[in-house]
Amino acid sequence: MKILAYERVEKPVLDALKEKHDVRFFKNIDTKQDKEFIEFLSEADGIIGLALDVNKELLEKAPKLKVVSNVSVGYNNLDIPELTKRNIMATNTPGILTDTVADMAFGLILSTARRIPELDQFVKNGHWTESLTEEHYGTDVHHKKLGIIGMGRIGNAIAKRAHHGFDMEIIYHSRSRKPNVEKEYQATYMDLDSLLQESDFVCLITPLTKETEGMIGKREFQLMKKSGIFINASRGGTIVEQDLIDALKNGDILAAGVDVFEQEPVDSNNELLKLKNTVTLPHIGSSSYETELKMSQLAAENLEAGLSGRKPPNLINPEVRAKKI
Ligand code: DGY
Repeated sequence: MKILAYERVEKPVLDALKEKHDVRFFKNIDTKQDKEFIEFLSEADGIIGLALDVNKELLEKAPKLKVVSNVSVGYNNLDIPELTKRNIMATNTPGILTDTVADMAFGLILSTARRIPELDQFVKNGHWTESLTEEHYGTDVHHKKLGIIGMGRIGNAIAKRAHHGFDMEIIYHSRSRKPNVEKEYQATYMDLDSLLQESDFVCLITPLTKETEGMIGKREFQLMKKSGIFINASRGGTIVEQDLIDALKNGDILAAGVDVFEQEPVDSNNELLKLKNTVTLPHIGSSSYETELKMSQLAAENLEAGLSGRKPPNLINPEVRAKKI
């Protein structure tokens, strides 16, 4: 089979795929212009990779495609209705990255509250002896109120850390109530506005969909406490980025930690990169050595299953399988 691999697939997984298939790996290319990519795509049976924009335009150039295997849990890069219409299976890698992303989200909570990256620079630049004052103090995390927007697997793992490790009070907003979270972490369900008003930390971890696109903007930031800290570990598109910049500059909120941006890789002129009260990461929530490898392995399993006519373990559009096999 012909497999088009797109960044990021870990090397051992790529090597194993190459033993069985005709695999071509692409990285940092313009998928609309690159001739080799377009030529290989026209023959490809499967795609495996992270964040390749699989839309109608691309699918028109891929008449043989049977499976698109995302190396991520989020699949906002895939046009699912279009894939389904064309009888192409779409898969993702849920579950295995939950704790890794939750660790990173918590890292952002701690880094922003205790100003860890800023103080790291302060020490390394030799300022400690001269000028350590209360201006460098941070704000406590323990015993504060954490508002989680999106209570799926990762939201749950963040709540677990907050409740058991940091004695935080958990409030949450989600499409549906989660009785297990309410019981295990004494979490309270709230409407979005009340959550924004009450939280010391707001952590956004909802998938990007038509319903969640731009869900946090000027109005929402202004509802937050002026001492509030905002964490985005979902997708850049779930917030209005310019409104976050304004809120940070105007003092509507205290600080922000973001792993995701509207445009990725982020433009070096993006104002978020210039703000002292913002901690920025390169969309790296799931990227530990261990988890990246597991994600690539699971994505390869999904791909192989789909190509051989079996049901992939993480099929997003089961309607396709019903029609095909
Ligand atoms: C995911 O798996 O969705 C991570 O955010 C990486 O894209």
